[in-house]
Order: sequence, then structure tokens, then C-alpha cells
Amino acid sequence: MRLVLLGAPGSGKGTQAARLREHLQVPHISTGDLLRAAVRAGTPLGLQAKAVMESGGLVSDEIVLGMLEERLTAGDTGNGFILDGYPRNLAQANALDTLLARLHQPVDVAVQLDVDTELLIGRLAGRAQVEGRADDTPEAVRNRLKIYDEATAPVVEFYRQSGRLVHLDGVGTMDEVFQRIVEALAPTPDLG
Ligand code: AP5
Repeated sequence: MRLVLLGAPGSGKGTQAARLREHLQVPHISTGDLLRAAVRAGTPLGLQAKAVMESGGLVSDEIVLGMLEERLTAGDTGNGFILDGYPRNLAQANALDTLLARLHQPVDVAVQLDVDTELLIGRLAGRAQVEGRADDTPEAVRNRLKIYDEATAPVVEFYRQSGRLVHLDGVGTMDEVFQRIVEALAPTPDLG
């Protein structure tokens, strides 16, 4: 299964992708994780991305697409993948469809996790205390949420219009949300 996970910062994409990786036995590809690894490694790409990420902004479409193409052609996506953090704007959504058409691996479904803003801010503040992620500062979180509303929310409509969207409540325990996703992805029984 080729799955895209959509949702605002803190909506649980990374948490649920890690569980779905075990359930579906396909790789979890997170553009945020790929970028953070590049920053840690101090690669030229990482050096370019660091300040933008810390401010909560979006890294350039060109850089992220190049990185994603390299990952998607690594040879382990034959049975599918879970994409987390991409696409983040309409240009990326179109670029992804073009890339995956070329690879003969079109997206089957996009799952949108819906969580209200106050809860998102609470979750990210909690993570800031535990993990100290550089972009979980109040200012960067505000910026990430604003960019999500302006640039990423239209991507949900993009998948709705092409009949590939599953919209789910992302509030509840991690187990409850996981169960909702699994049920939504299960094939409809043939009643015929
Ligand atoms: P990225 O790493 O993708 O960050 P994000 O989208 O802001 O998402 P988060 O990781 O903050 O949240 P999440 O939805 O994964 O939630 P999580 O499971 O972690 O991107 C980081 C940056 O990289 C971007 O800002 C940008 O600069 C750059 N970037 C990445 N992709 C890009 C792209 N395509 N184009 C351009 N730039 C790009 O959960 C959050 C917290 O909540 C955790 O502490 C978790 O334990 C907790 N939690 C999760 N679920 C629950 C639950 N059900 N109940 C209670 N707590 C929960």
C-alpha cells in the first residue's frame, strides 16, 4: 500500500507512521526525519535547511523533492511506503504525482488526521520539554501552524478531489487513532 499521511504539526503523523510501518510492513519515509538527519550530518543540504527548519519555515521544494526521489528509488518500496511530511503544498502534491507516475507507484490513499489547534500546541509543548526539538519553540510552532493553514491545508482538497482522501479524527489515545486508521484502510468486505 502506498499511503500519504496528512495533518498539522503535532497531529500524530510520525507516531502513527511508526505503527503502520509494522502493521503494513512497508518503509516509513519522513521528509522531516530525512532533513534532520542531513542537518545532524552537516551535509551541504543540511546546512542550507537548518535555519529554515528552526524558524518553522518550509525548505525549498527543489531540495526536498530531490531528497525524496533519492529515497523512493532506494529499492525497498516495492510493497509500498508510508509518506509522512510530504506533500506540504500544491506544487509538491503535483510533483509527487508526476514522480510516482514515472515510478509506476501512484498514491493509493491519503489519510488526514484532524486535531484542533489547542491540542496540537499542547502536544508540541509537551514534546519540547521531553525532546527539545529545535522547531518546537513557541515561535516556530506558531509559524509551522500558520504555514500549515496557508500552504498545506489545500493539499487535503487536492486528494479529496481525486477521490483518494480518508479524513479521520486524530483525537484520542495513540491506540485509538491507530485503530481508526487500520479500520479505514481495511478493504471493504465483498457483500456480493
Ligand atoms: P516534520 O518533521 O514533518 O514536522 P511536522 O509536520 O511539523 O510534524 P511533527 O513531527 O511536529 O508532528 P507529527 O504530526 O509527526 O506528530 P507526532 O507523531 O510527532 O517537519 C519538520 C520541518 O522539516 C518542517 O517544519 C520543515 O521545515 C521541514 N520539512 C519537512 N518536510 C518538508 C517538506 N515536504 N517541504 C518543505 N519542508 C519540509 O506527535 C507530536 C507529539 O504528540 C509527540 O510528542 C507525540 O508523542 C504526541 N502524540 C501523538 N499522538 C498523540 C495522541 N494520540 N495523544 C497524545 N499525544 C500524542
